[in-house]
Amino acid sequence: MKKYNVAVVGANGAVGEEILRVLEEIDFPLNRLIPLASARSIGKQVSFNDENFDIIELTHDVFEKEAVEIALFSAGGSVSAEFAPHAVRAGAVVIDNTSHFRMEPNVPLVVPEVNPEDIALWKNTGIIANPNCSTIQMVQTLKPLDNVYDLVRVDVSTYQATSGAGKTAMQELVNQMQAFFAFKLDEAEIKAFNQQIALNVIPQIDKFTENGYTKEEMKMVNETTKIMHKEIALSATCVRVPVLRGHSEALTLTFDSEVSANEAKAILEKAPNIVLVDDPEQELYPMPKDCVDKNETFVGRIREDVYANNMLHMFVVADNLRVGAATNAVRIAQKWIEMEELA
Ligand SMILES: NC(=O)c1ccc[n+]([C@@H]2O[C@H](COP(=O)([O-])OP(=O)(O)OC[C@H]3O[C@@H](n4cnc5c(N)ncnc54)[C@H](OP(=O)(O)O)[C@@H]3O)[C@@H](O)[C@H]2O)c1
Repeated sequence: MKKYNVAVVGANGAVGEEILRVLEEIDFPLNRLIPLASARSIGKQVSFNDENFDIIELTHDVFEKEAVEIALFSAGGSVSAEFAPHAVRAGAVVIDNTSHFRMEPNVPLVVPEVNPEDIALWKNTGIIANPNCSTIQMVQTLKPLDNVYDLVRVDVSTYQATSGAGKTAMQELVNQMQAFFAFKLDEAEIKAFNQQIALNVIPQIDKFTENGYTKEEMKMVNETTKIMHKEIALSATCVRVPVLRGHSEALTLTFDSEVSANEAKAILEKAPNIVLVDDPEQELYPMPKDCVDKNETFVGRIREDVYANNMLHMFVVADNLRVGAATNAVRIAQKWIEMEELA
C-alpha cells in the first residue's frame, strides 16, 4: 500500500497536537511527517511515535520542497487563505480545519459519517473543508435519525469548552481559576474571551452578525444545510462554558413523522462512531469529562417531547479537539486515500 508524506500546519497548536495523536493511534499509511508552524516555533519540537521532530517554518515553497501529498491545516483562517493554494500547487490535497473555505460552493465540506461521497469533489480546488466543531458532532447524530424520520427542524443550545478557542484560551481559564483561589480574580487577564470565563458562562461565541445571531451560530445553520444537502430549519444558541475540553449540545429535533425515543436509541446505537450513554435509572448520561481523547460522539438523555409526538430531545457530547477537528480531518484523509486507490 502506498504511504504518504503528510504535513500538519499548526503542528504545535491545540488541534495540530491532536492530529499527531490520532495519526499515531490509527494505522495511517504515513511515509513522512512534516510538522509546520510559524517562525515563532523554530527551535521547538513535536513528539510523534516516541521520536522528536523539529518544527519547520511554514513558507510558500515548503510543500514542494518536502514533497507533501496530504496537508492538514489548522493554523487559522488567514494562514489557510494564504498557504493552502501553495500546497495545492505543489500537488497536495488540503484538508482544512479553519472556516476559510467551508462555504465556498465548489469546496466540499465533509463529515465522513454523513457525506463521504462529497470527498470526490476535492478535484475542483484541491481543498476539502472540515466543518466547525459544534456542527460535526451534531450532524453525526442528526443524519441517522433523518434517514428514518425526515428531520425538519433543529433547535440547539451548546455548552462549548475553552479549547475551542485554542491553547491560550484553555490557559486563560486555568489562570483565572488560580487567580480566584488567590483572591485576585478581579486582577486576572481577560483576553482570549471578551468576558471572564472562570465561574461564568458566556452566551457569545465569535462576533455578532446583523440578524442578532453570532457567527458561530450561523456556521451551525449554514454548514448543516451544506453537509446534509437539505434545507433544515435550525436555530442555535452557542455558549462558552468553563470546561477545558468537550463540547456539549442540548438538541430539540422536530421530524416530519411520529417518533419513538426507544426506536431512536436503537438507531443511534447502530450509527457509526456514536456511543449511546443513556440510562436514567443508573444516572448515566454523556459528560465532557468522559469524552476527552475519545474519537466517538456520545449521546444520551433521549426523550420524547411532553406535548408533540414528532419531537425528540437529547444531549450530545464530543471532544472538540478530536471529533470536532483532528479525528474528522484524519478520517477525511483516510477516505480520500481509499477513493484515490480505487480510482
Ligand atoms: N480548537 C478547536 O476546537 C478547533 C476546532 C475546529 C477548528 N479549529 C480551527 O483550527 C485552527 C487552529 O486552532 P487551535 O485551537 O489549534 O489554535 P492554537 O492552539 O492557537 O494553535 C495555532 C497553531 O497555528 C500556528 N500558527 C499560527 N499562526 C501561524 C502562521 N502565521 N504561520 C504558521 N503557523 C501559524 C501556531 O504556531 P505558532 O505557535 O508558531 O504561531 C499553532 O501551531 C483555527 O483556525 C480554529 O478555528 C479549532
